[in-house]
Amino acid sequence: MSRLWLIVPAAGVGRRMQAECPKQYLPLAGRTVLAQSLVRLHTAFPAATLCLCLAQDDTEFDADAVPFDDWRRIDGGAERADSVAAALAAIAAEAADDDLVLVHDAARPCVAPDDLARLLAAVSAEPDGALLAVPVADTMKRAAADGRVAGTELRDGLWHALTPQGARFALLYDAYRAASARGLALTDEASALEAMGHAPQLVAGRRDNLKITHPDDLALAELILAAQAGSSDSPPTAAQHKALT
Ligand code: CTP
Ligand code: MG
Repeated sequence: MSRLWLIVPAAGVGRRMQAECPKQYLPLAGRTVLAQSLVRLHTAFPAATLCLCLAQDDTEFDADAVPFDDWRRIDGGAERADSVAAALAAIAAEAADDDLVLVHDAARPCVAPDDLARLLAAVSAEPDGALLAVPVADTMKRAAADGRVAGTELRDGLWHALTPQGARFALLYDAYRAASARGLALTDEASALEAMGHAPQLVAGRRDNLKITHPDDLALAELILAAQAGSSDSPPTAAQHKALT
């Protein structure tokens, strides 16, 4: 059976969040944002190996927040893509070509167990990899330099790309190395795969898989977690998780 690797980029500074500390360390429903994300992943994939990308000068990280038995710390890079590339390079000697790799942003603590399971199934089955995504619902405007509307974009077929995104190890590692050789700026794993001519599978996910980005997102994430805790497919609360492990 293929081994499962989880790469969690958490080496950003959270510039848009304008907080005192990087957004992954802000408190959210009794834990940090990072710890919430890790508990979600661990509940779905307890036997996976975690590669956690952290800034070299990170002073906030607490290893007690990592629920995985098998995990390692990776020095992140200047951009998200550099952090993910560093993780892929770090496991290259150990990972088999057909091992499964899922990359999930530390800043997405509301990802639901059902979405994680469906995405893993798609990554296992799809030769070109897969990503969670949601169809665009709003009318899309292109802005002119003066802040006025320059035009309306067709939203047919447009999706928001979420995480996790993933593929077999060799496919993703090759794609990242090829993109780096070509100097391509990547904001997600699917872009690396697309640049190689692959067509990753869009897996329709939940709209509440929010990426905490701006100051008001934190309160929204609190509401989402509270609503999920009241529904039947909810992941365990902090206290329940402690009792289970
Ligand atoms: N990330 C990373 N290494 C970087 C930049 C980002 O590992 N050099 C991580 C972030 O910690 C986050 C995820 O990639 O979990 C998605 O990035 P983003 O939401 O852009 O986070 P930040 O870069 O921290 O925020 P901002 O762009 O507002 O500065
Ligand atoms: Mg960023």
